[in-house]
Amino acid sequence: MDAPRASEYLARVTQTKQHKILLSEDEMPTRWYNVLHDVPTPPPPVLHPGTGEPVGPDDLAPLFPADLIMQEVSTDAYVEIPGEVLDVYRLWRPSPLYRAHRLEKALGTPARIYYKYEGVSPAGSHKPNTAVPQAFYNAKAGITKLTTETGAGQWGSALAFACSQYALDCEVWQVRASYDQKPYRRIMIETFGATVHPSPSDLTEAGRKILAQDPDSTGSLGIAISEAVEMAAGDPTTNYALGSVLNHVLMHQTIIGEEALLQLAKVGEQPDLLVGCTGGGSNFGGMAFPFLREKWAGRMSPVVRAVEPTACPSLTQGTYAYDFGDTIGMTPLMKMHTLGHDFVPDPIHAGGLRYHGMSPLISHLYEEGHLEAIARPQSDCFAAGVLFARTEGIVPAPEPTHALAAAVEEANRCKETGEEKVILTALCGHGHLDLAAYDAYLSGEMTDRDWADSDIQASVARALQRLPVLS
Ligand SMILES: Cc1ncc(COP(=O)(O)O)c(C=O)c1O
Repeated sequence: MDAPRASEYLARVTQTKQHKILLSEDEMPTRWYNVLHDVPTPPPPVLHPGTGEPVGPDDLAPLFPADLIMQEVSTDAYVEIPGEVLDVYRLWRPSPLYRAHRLEKALGTPARIYYKYEGVSPAGSHKPNTAVPQAFYNAKAGITKLTTETGAGQWGSALAFACSQYALDCEVWQVRASYDQKPYRRIMIETFGATVHPSPSDLTEAGRKILAQDPDSTGSLGIAISEAVEMAAGDPTTNYALGSVLNHVLMHQTIIGEEALLQLAKVGEQPDLLVGCTGGGSNFGGMAFPFLREKWAGRMSPVVRAVEPTACPSLTQGTYAYDFGDTIGMTPLMKMHTLGHDFVPDPIHAGGLRYHGMSPLISHLYEEGHLEAIARPQSDCFAAGVLFARTEGIVPAPEPTHALAAAVEEANRCKETGEEKVILTALCGHGHLDLAAYDAYLSGEMTDRDWADSDIQASVARALQRLPVLS
């Protein structure tokens, strides 16, 4: 996977090729796509842990504004993007689609690799695509403050930015491991005007409970969610915002796939393979859902593949069961691929992929056979990330290096078979504030942790035993 020497490389790269496929601001899609309209079978409902009944809008009202609750349950095919949101989107959207000519040359593959780059956003990732509408709908409903969790620091930065656009206060619980590894993310969040706490914190019941059990806890997304939800639930002027997992979040991200469809059409291409990394499923779903719509309509037939870390393999090793979205058990029960709500993964560098569960929509589509999933260790992913940086010139965030590793694998397979596959991947963020992770990789200090299937099953079984009994 080493990058070729400069002299060899320059000789092999033709300089007249088109690299970026761009859309003008006028060409930006003006509606989000709702995959729930087209899923061949509806996903199981979200349940109230007390009654075991499907949750209704009233159950969600303490945390979310009415517009987002309606979007969460809507089966309309499209939702118009409000003008106030489009206006903020235009700060960085449409985002570029790149043809990875230099990576292809380095690999010597006949495959054509495209990447949709979301690192051009204010936070440096796809997360503002949903942070902006979430902040907008909350401001419209008269809410004055949002709370949230952040794993990689990307979501916290995105929500802090979005809140600054609509004059909302913002309070962020940053997973301890990420808070310690990434001081610059905290500073960025504060620069956008939000307040940051390391999680677990002693500001909430949930945090105090975890700290009593483990004073050195490195935290997890599940714990940070419990803290942010607890703070919002206790204050009628404060709501909670989630950066992934939920239907409306994935719907907001479909702007990625809708743009990519238009961009590929401009160069007359259709993908044979889509690969994306999955933490809670939002960048992957956002890229994949519009392509699944096209596939179900018989207009194309891409394979759609999710890539997760071996340290947190919810799709590939988790159980498909009803579980809490947070660690303490404050959220409704969602049917999803889960490692158990108290699973605390190793503090791998892809902080955004350290979530015990998976979007119920992605889980359902995976169960129904519409998606594939694989897991890869972080050192393989960083090898692909470094190769990508040395060829394409972008240092990827640790999370999308998982997708890049899978794209490189497929491109290498094409080299063996001679197939000219079109591979589309979501490069969902840059890694400019993740350089400590690259330092660990380059200095040989990075370690990998695979979970034995038996350990995973034991963890899931323990967590599921503590769930309310559903009739
Ligand atoms: C850059 C980046 N990619 C991917 C993820 C994973 O989230 P999701 O699966 O919702 O896209 C995160 C989450 O924080 C992230 O920051």
